[in-house]
Amino acid sequence: MIKKTIQLVTIIWMMGMLHAQAQVNKNYSKQRKWWKEAVVYQLYPRSFKDSDGDGVGDLKGITEKLDYLKSLGVDVVWLNPIYSSPNDDNGYDISDYRNIMKEFGTMKDFDQMLEGMHERGMRLVMDLVVNHSSDEHEWFRQARSSRDSKYRNYYHWWPEEKGTPPYRYSLFDVNHDAWKYDTLTRSYYLHYFSRKQPDLNWSNPDLRKEVYDIMKFWADKGVDGFRMDAFQFCVKDTSFPVFEGLNASNFVQFYAMVPPIHDYLQEMHKEVYAKYNLMSVAEGAGRNMQDAHDLVDTQRKELNMAYAFDAVDVSSSPDYSMLKLKKTFTKWDKEFQNDGWLSIFMGNHDQSRVIDRIGNPSEQYREASAKLISTFLLTMRGTPYIYNGDEIGMTNAGFKDISEFKDIQTINEYKYQQSQGGDLAAFMQKNIKYSRDNSRTPFQWNDEDNAGFSTSQPWIRVGNSYKEINLQNQENNPESCVNYFRQMVKFRKDNKVLVYGDYTVVDENNPNIYAYTRIEGNHKLLVVLNFSDVTSQVTIPKAMRVSTVEINNLLTKPTITNNTIALLPWQAVIYKLN
Ligand code: GLC
Repeated sequence: MIKKTIQLVTIIWMMGMLHAQAQVNKNYSKQRKWWKEAVVYQLYPRSFKDSDGDGVGDLKGITEKLDYLKSLGVDVVWLNPIYSSPNDDNGYDISDYRNIMKEFGTMKDFDQMLEGMHERGMRLVMDLVVNHSSDEHEWFRQARSSRDSKYRNYYHWWPEEKGTPPYRYSLFDVNHDAWKYDTLTRSYYLHYFSRKQPDLNWSNPDLRKEVYDIMKFWADKGVDGFRMDAFQFCVKDTSFPVFEGLNASNFVQFYAMVPPIHDYLQEMHKEVYAKYNLMSVAEGAGRNMQDAHDLVDTQRKELNMAYAFDAVDVSSSPDYSMLKLKKTFTKWDKEFQNDGWLSIFMGNHDQSRVIDRIGNPSEQYREASAKLISTFLLTMRGTPYIYNGDEIGMTNAGFKDISEFKDIQTINEYKYQQSQGGDLAAFMQKNIKYSRDNSRTPFQWNDEDNAGFSTSQPWIRVGNSYKEINLQNQENNPESCVNYFRQMVKFRKDNKVLVYGDYTVVDENNPNIYAYTRIEGNHKLLVVLNFSDVTSQVTIPKAMRVSTVEINNLLTKPTITNNTIALLPWQAVIYKLN
C-alpha cells in the first residue's frame, strides 16, 4: 500500500515537473541566448576617432580606442557602414560590398580591428545595406548601360514607353520623387532614398544569392552579426500598382513588409544565419505588432530581435511626454513577453541626441538626466543599444545655420522647402533640434582642439559642449556619467533578472515617475525614475517590500514614507525587493 502511494506521488510529481518544463519551453523569452545578454554599443566610425589627421574617423582610430570600449563593459559593437562608398549618405550608399571605404582605411586595418575586438572578448556587428546600393556600384553601372545587361534586373526599371510611373515617395530626393529618369536607356529607376541609392530588386534570385555570398564573405572573416539597414522596405510589388494617398507620413504602411519578404528571410536564414553563430537585427519592425512578431518569433527562423521605432517616434514628436513613452514601452513589452525579442534603444545616428529629446540638457540637470537614461536603457527587457557619446552625456551640436549641416536628408529637405516656398524658419527650428547631424558630430575625447578627435578640421564641426562634456573630464571622477554607465553595465551583467525577468509597470499613469519591477523567481528589483525637473512621488503597492538601494544616480537617498517614494529631479534609483 505504502509502496503504491509512493509510486503514485512520484508519478504526479513527475507530471508536474514535465508540465512546468513545457511552460518554460513555451516561453521563448526566457531561453538563454548570448545576444539577449549582450549590451550593444553603436559606433559611428566617421566621427569616432581620426588616426591619420584627415578630419574623418577611421578604423585605426577605432582600434586605438578598443581598451576604452572594453572598459565600458559592452560586449557587441555595431559599426555603421565602412564599405567603399562615394558617401552620398555617409556610407549607406555602397559601391563595393567587399572592400573598405578609402577614408576609413584598408582591409588589413579591418582585420586588425576585428582581431582586437575578439581578443578583448567583444563581438562585431556590421551594417548590411541591401535595400539599395550606390549608383557607383559595378552592378548599377552595368545595369544602366543597356536594357540587355545581365545586371539590369538587379534594380527596378520603368521604361519610358509605358508613360509616367505611378508615384513613389522618396525620403531623400530633392523632389521626393522616387523615380529618376535615366537618358541612356530611356527608363526610370526606383530609389526610395537618394538618387545615388538605387533600390535593389529582391525578386531576382541572382541578386539574393549575391547578398548571401556577401554575408558569408564577412561571416567567414569572423564578424558576429548583421544589422540590416532599411530591410523592411526591400521587397517591392513589381507590378507597381498605384498607391492611393501615399505620402511622407504614411509610406511605411505601403512600403514595409511586402510579400514574400518572409520567404526571403527564411531563405537567408537557411543560407547564412543557420550556418554561423550570428546576431541578426533588421532596422524597422514593420507596420504593426504582427509584422514585428513575424520577423522574430523563435520558431519562424528569421531574425533574432526586432528594432521598432515607436518609442523614438514618440520622443521626437512636438507633443512628447514621458507618459506616452512609458505607455509605448509597456505596450511593446507586453506583446513580446512570451516570444520574440526586442532591441531597447533611444538614440542612434538617425536621431538627435537622446538627452535633448527625453532628458534635460541644461547645465543643472544634464548629468543626472544622462545617468537616468542609462539606468532606463540598461534595466528594460530586451537587448540595450547605446549610441556612442551618450555614455558621456553628449548633447545636441548647437548648429544654427543650414551651411553647418552635412546630412543629405536635412539639406535636400531644405532645398525642397525652398522650392515649394515653405517656411524655412520653421524648418530650421525643427532641424536644430531634431536633425540627425546632431548625433553625428565628433566624439568628445577632451577639451583640446577638435575635441581630441582629429589633428585637423573635422568633416562636421564639433558640438558646442565639448569643453564641458568630454571623456577626459569624466575619467577620474567616480561620479561622472561615464563611470555611472560602467557601473550600470556591470549591474546588468550581475543581475540576469534585468535580461530575463518579467517587467511590470508600477503606477502606470504617474506623469513624472516611470517605475517598474523586474522579477524572476526570487530575484526582484524595483526601478524608479523621475523624468522631471521637480521632486516627485510614486506610491508602490502595499505588499511590495523595499530592501536595499542598489543604484542611485544622486548622492541623496530618496525618502520613503508609507510606501510612497519621493525622488529629486531626474533621480534614478534601483531597489532590491524582499
Ligand atoms: C537607414 C539608415 C540611415 C540611412 C538610410 C538609407 O535608415 O539608418 O542612416 O540614411 O537607411 O540607407
